[in-house]
Amino acid sequence: MINRRELFGAGAALAAGQLARAQAPKELVISSANGLAACKKAMEMVKAGADTLDAVVAGVNIVELDPHDNSVGYGGLPNEEGVVELDASVMHGPTRRCGSVASIRSIKTPSNIAKLVMEQTDHIMLVGDNALRFAKAMGYKEEDLLTEESRLAWMTWKLSLRDKSGHNNWGPGVDAPPKRRTSELKQLFPHADDKLLAWAMEMAMHPPTGTINCLALNAKGEMSGTTTTSGLAWKIPGRVGDSPIIGAGLYVDQDYGGAGSTGRGEENIRICGAHTIVENMRHGMTPKEACLDALKRISRNFDNDKTRLGQFDINFYALRKDGLYAGASLWKGQEHRARFAVNDGGESRHEDSIYLYER
Ligand code: GLY
Repeated sequence: MINRRELFGAGAALAAGQLARAQAPKELVISSANGLAACKKAMEMVKAGADTLDAVVAGVNIVELDPHDNSVGYGGLPNEEGVVELDASVMHGPTRRCGSVASIRSIKTPSNIAKLVMEQTDHIMLVGDNALRFAKAMGYKEEDLLTEESRLAWMTWKLSLRDKSGHNNWGPGVDAPPKRRTSELKQLFPHADDKLLAWAMEMAMHPPTGTINCLALNAKGEMSGTTTTSGLAWKIPGRVGDSPIIGAGLYVDQDYGGAGSTGRGEENIRICGAHTIVENMRHGMTPKEACLDALKRISRNFDNDKTRLGQFDINFYALRKDGLYAGASLWKGQEHRARFAVNDGGESRHEDSIYLYER
């Protein structure tokens, strides 16, 4: 027998379906805050009639190839051994297909390889050396992904490690006169200015989990999404975050909408965030309500203890098939941290994300 709650759920799902059919779809691209250029590129392609997945992948390629975005692709911060390892996923609404790669090295645009896994294989996910082998079979060349900037940040992190007595083998010997850490760095990187060194120190002390998620909707109501990242800086080699996990870092249901995430992937995996958000929208929630519910689930995993929750950031992005969208963050944050990028046909802009907690 169906109980009242199930009846309500079924009704809400139906209502969302009717809503999706009743309203004219809008052309829209949204992404994490680092995706202004990605949204612009994707929108240009959507307007020109390109497939929505081709559009979002071309959009995030800009960020993957940007050596100055240290959270994605070329120039992404490396693992603890100084090797850049990338994760990416794609999901194509109209065909309901998806693909992903995890821990792939030496390829600047892992979103392309995830798309090839979707298009050219009967599998969904390839990892590590074998993902690279697949990329090479598809004609991609191995490249060094470590930039001088990310090498500097990695070495700064290594220098910051200390044993109980404050010693670190990566520094002047015990017989050397005492030196301040910044002067150690200056010796190692004489070409680096103070601003670059301060940035490297910040990265060493607070390892970031940047990423880009990008979702698109075209005038026909077709949707796709992609998420691509270099993952957590200084991670243990082989660590995989949420970005390549279909249902965590990315999910698209052509009938209802898409969602994605950036930030600490471990917490997102534990609640299957993107799938949870799309399911919430399927049951009638707005994108804002759907994202807030996902954030509350993360908070619940920590018994709503703000001290522990305060140790990380996580962000969600949701785009419903009727064109309603939202960005949402666990913390209000500062500057760009609680914003996301939107393009509805003109120039890309930042909009404020909603948030669960204020620091
Ligand atoms: N969300 C990116 C990561 O945790 O790897």
